[in-house]
Amino acid sequence: MNLVEVKGVGKSFRGLHALSDVDFAVAEGEILGVIGPNGAGKTTLFNVVSGALRPDTGRVHLAGADVTGRSPDRIARAGMVRTFQLMRPFSSMTVLENVSLAAQHHRFGAKELRKHSLDVVERVGLGPWAHRAAPDLPTAGLKRLELARTLAMRPKVLLLDEVLAGLVPAEREPVLDLLATLREQEGVTLVFIEHIMAAVMRLADRVLVLDQGRVLAVGSPEEVTSDPRVIDAYLGEEPTRAEA
Ligand SMILES: Nc1ncnc2c1ncn2[C@@H]1O[C@H](COP(=O)(O)OP(=O)(O)O)[C@@H](O)[C@H]1O
Ligand SMILES: [Mg+2]
Repeated sequence: MNLVEVKGVGKSFRGLHALSDVDFAVAEGEILGVIGPNGAGKTTLFNVVSGALRPDTGRVHLAGADVTGRSPDRIARAGMVRTFQLMRPFSSMTVLENVSLAAQHHRFGAKELRKHSLDVVERVGLGPWAHRAAPDLPTAGLKRLELARTLAMRPKVLLLDEVLAGLVPAEREPVLDLLATLREQEGVTLVFIEHIMAAVMRLADRVLVLDQGRVLAVGSPEEVTSDPRVIDAYLGEEPTRAEA
């Protein structure tokens, strides 16, 4: 079954076609990677799918329901949650409080809320930081907090916008392991925008390639990375990406 279906989505900003006629589907439990050059429209696609932006054309379906134009909050309640590239923790709060705030979405009782929030904080490796002020976290910690914030909402579909950016290789591994575990143990469906091709190759079942707001290719990681159009538009421009 397709959990997410995006049909004919277009979005322009004052004449700039950030997205044109974008079609794709994500099966339940699938991991879809999204790649493409800077400015290709990847983040705009997440903005549209998660409800932050209304598309000019096209529809977004989640579990068969048309969620086009619904607020991010309503879409999150329906099970689809996205991470932000730049995380903005509530600065006067601790790491645990930030996560609890996101978890409140589930209307847990106080005890359950605390337990669930602590579980999530530990799961992303922030246990030792639970009671520290969120802004004191280093970059890698802020990235983990952003992931924790979304996990606290128990998503069915998680949209990840460059969660590995700014992390050194040793910090990436545990995040990749966590994402793989989320799918394997909880069946969470993942759509992840990522520049680090090694991560895409390792995690993705299929890869969607965007270029200038259009879908350039969709296929297995092997198919898209050997597609001459993809090499031309993206992989060829900076060969180290393919090796990184
Ligand atoms: N809110 C906005 N207002 C105007 N232009 C935007 C806005 N958001 C994105 N864009 C433009 O849309 C294009 C796609 O941007 P984006 O989706 O951020 O690309 P990517 O995430 O693939 O790097 C870029 O040219 C960008 O400048
Ligand atoms: Mg982006």
